[in-house]
Amino acid sequence: MTKKYTVTPWEVTGEVDYDKLIKEFGTEKINEHLLERIKKHTGELHYMLRRKIFFSHRDLNLVLDEYEKGMEFALYTGRGPSGNTHIGHLVPWIFCKYLQDKFGAELYFQITDDEKFMLKPELTLEKTNELGYENALDVIACGFNPDKTFIFVDTDYAKTLYKLSIQIAKKVTTSSAKAVFGFTNETNIGMMFWPAVQAAPCFLPSVLKGKKIRTLIPAAIDQDPYWRISRDVAPKLGFPKTAAIHNLFLPALTGQGSKMSASHEETAVYTTDSEDIVAKKIKKYAFSGGQATIDEHRKKGGNPDVDVSYQWLTFFEEDDKKLENIYREYKEGKMLTGELKQILTDKIVNFLKKHQEKREKAKKVLDKFILKD
Ligand code: TYM
Repeated sequence: MTKKYTVTPWEVTGEVDYDKLIKEFGTEKINEHLLERIKKHTGELHYMLRRKIFFSHRDLNLVLDEYEKGMEFALYTGRGPSGNTHIGHLVPWIFCKYLQDKFGAELYFQITDDEKFMLKPELTLEKTNELGYENALDVIACGFNPDKTFIFVDTDYAKTLYKLSIQIAKKVTTSSAKAVFGFTNETNIGMMFWPAVQAAPCFLPSVLKGKKIRTLIPAAIDQDPYWRISRDVAPKLGFPKTAAIHNLFLPALTGQGSKMSASHEETAVYTTDSEDIVAKKIKKYAFSGGQATIDEHRKKGGNPDVDVSYQWLTFFEEDDKKLENIYREYKEGKMLTGELKQILTDKIVNFLKKHQEKREKAKKVLDKFILKD
């Protein structure tokens, strides 16, 4: 049978079968036992864990084993600055903030102006670098501790990153890069080298601290192919294998299986969107699980499982009870699509209002977070 979806770091299309993907990528599902283990340390489970938005991992058990023995770990995640930040990008960052608070972990945050310059023919390096610092404001707005958070834009931290990247690159053959990333003869040689640069921060805390520190990477599962390369190389270079925890994709506003993508405006809400724009986008584009007429909807009820407004609420409405009520009322036809869209609009507008205030304040403290060399 042919596959109906594609998941690579550059392309996510079709309706993703996450269980299948776990098998294909060779990761592990997050089970109840692991959730219980996490809960022992955090006291409460983040709603993204309760709802299985974070659903898969590599070696999270090992991270907890070591943590219980008093060994620290560091968080690593990142952003490719090809445009403004959209609210899907915030999903792993919100979760990172929770892990930082609960485990006291440092966060290393890579912003890949080099990657997006090499990948996108229309973007100059000046532009991706500028977007990188714009995107950094969204990271800071998530509320990270400035004493424990290190953000670097690749070309401004090149001396440190390059030394580490070439050590990794030397251990990765072209054939394995082709197999993992699907590179072809048409791929530019910059992108061929690229996996080594994204793998480098997996080992950065160990290099900076002069001792072995395992990294844990919260990110959507599209980034996992890099961690496979990095984990293969780690023992050869004497570093601990990086661990990872994977989140689902926030779906595109237009729904039907695709993910929110910064390059398709109608699918995304950006962190800089105004109240008006958010309301208009949701009203116009949010894929509805409702029936064709109000009468029919009242009789048959809607389908929250395909309704994008409901799906988005599972990512942004923290209150389980509220969410359950919405699910039930919509399914029973008591709540109409227009009402559901209004609930989502209020939620996102409120969220963004606070985010935008924090984003503005972040401009004054940007320097406290940035690593340069
Ligand atoms: P980028 O900029 O494409 O994505 C940034 C982060 O957002 C996640 N993501 C999503 N999560 C939920 N729903 C979505 N619709 C959605 N779209 C994207 C991505 O998985 C990622 O975690 N090459 C990377 C930059 C990078 C990086 C890293 C990312 C460098 N080092 C380490 C994660 C971890 C990129 O272009 O990400």
